Amino acid sequence: MLTQLNWNNVMCKFFLKILIVSSLMYLSACTNMMSNDALTKVEIQNNSLYQRIGGLPVLTKIVDEFIDEVVASPRTKRSFDGIKLKPFKESVVAQLCKLSGGPCVYEGETMANAHRDANITEAEFDAFVDIFRETLSKYLPTREKNELLKILAPMKRDIVKPA
Ligand code: HEM
Repeated sequence: MLTQLNWNNVMCKFFLKILIVSSLMYLSACTNMMSNDALTKVEIQNNSLYQRIGGLPVLTKIVDEFIDEVVASPRTKRSFDGIKLKPFKESVVAQLCKLSGGPCVYEGETMANAHRDANITEAEFDAFVDIFRETLSKYLPTREKNELLKILAPMKRDIVKPA
């Protein structure tokens, strides 16, 4: 009888230990997962704009679609007569890639030189940015969209023909 009680006691302690150890392991795994999640969030927030946008695949798609609209819109198409679209789009992609922190090299002209003879009006510039904003809204969250638009805004003074 006594031996049976001892045996039960030993088994009880044994299972209790297993329960405690596995609970601790579970708790530690949970904590680990939570801190990994938090880490991923911080990493995403600190990534360059280029990375957050989705890199070249997304940037190329945005520029392709947006330039097609700009050259077709009655508000902006005037300046694009005879322009070779492929190199123009490539140049805009390289510029935005570089300015957003990506690995591209922009070898085009400064904005002042590229637009000097185009006599671009303020209305045309604003329409261009409107179309860009609309395309960005399809592909990017608000934060990234606004960061890209912020990069373009100061170029206005170099692009628009002085009145
Ligand atoms: C912030 C706004 C703008 C940006 C970032 C921008 C960017 C560029 C870039 C990167 C180039 C190519 C330069 C090169 O490769 O040497 C370019 C050229 C040009 N842009 Fe803009 N541009 C802007 C606004 C405009 C506007 C508002 C218009 C007209 C409505 C316009 C019309 C042109 C034209 C006609 C060219 C010359 C294309 C060629 O000769 O192949 N741009 N722009």
